[in-house]
Amino acid sequence: MNRERLRIAIQKKGRLNRDSLDLLLRCGLNVQISQNALLSHVENLPIDLLFVRDDDIPGMVMDGICDFGIVGENVLLEKEIYRKRNGYNSTFKVIKKFEFGRCRLSIAFPKEFPYSGSISLKGLRFATSYPNLLQEFFYANDIKADILTVSGSVEIAPEIDMADTVCDLVSTGKTLEENNLKEVKTIINSQAVLISSTKARPIELKNCIQFLCSKIEGEVI
Ligand code: PRP
Ligand code: ZN
Repeated sequence: MNRERLRIAIQKKGRLNRDSLDLLLRCGLNVQISQNALLSHVENLPIDLLFVRDDDIPGMVMDGICDFGIVGENVLLEKEIYRKRNGYNSTFKVIKKFEFGRCRLSIAFPKEFPYSGSISLKGLRFATSYPNLLQEFFYANDIKADILTVSGSVEIAPEIDMADTVCDLVSTGKTLEENNLKEVKTIINSQAVLISSTKARPIELKNCIQFLCSKIEGEVI
């Protein structure tokens, strides 16, 4: 990696964006953010902030395009399984887990649909944005079922008979409630984490990395 500035990828839009940015500002990064800019130069350190889709952050760090990324474990684990299965390198280090971005990936049924443990999941059609994590859960529990991958608005699927049930993120539970669904099984719990590339960096950036890591280490959120 022959660059003069470190790159940190954070979510452009969504639940982790504000907390991720606030964290970096508290660490002393001096940066002007303009609404549609996808890359911002930090003024007092050799760091660039990249504003990207959260799904792209793990791959950017694993490929060494970015040095650090702040991402939810849900997205990270999903991408890690996908990349391993498809023969891509998926090495990275988790530097720190934060208190923000807590949520869980859960299976939820229409309220009137009977649920009696994992056995009643067999043969159903599941809509999800996390096909790899759901497949791992099925392997571990010896369940054969159909997975339909959708990238958003998963909770609509049972109502329009696109699927029998869903596997999606739950944070406050409001989306499930509003769509007449009940949570029946949690697959993973998740929170925001800082990940780091394992690729070598130029010696000139070592001080900056040390400064950043020690500041983030001192953060309690
Ligand atoms: C996420 C997730 C759920 C919802 C859960 O959706 O996919 O739909 O948040 O949050 P809650 O339990 O607090 O209601 P997001 O807003 O990211 O939209 P999308 O899934 O349609 O992309
Ligand atoms: Zn997303």
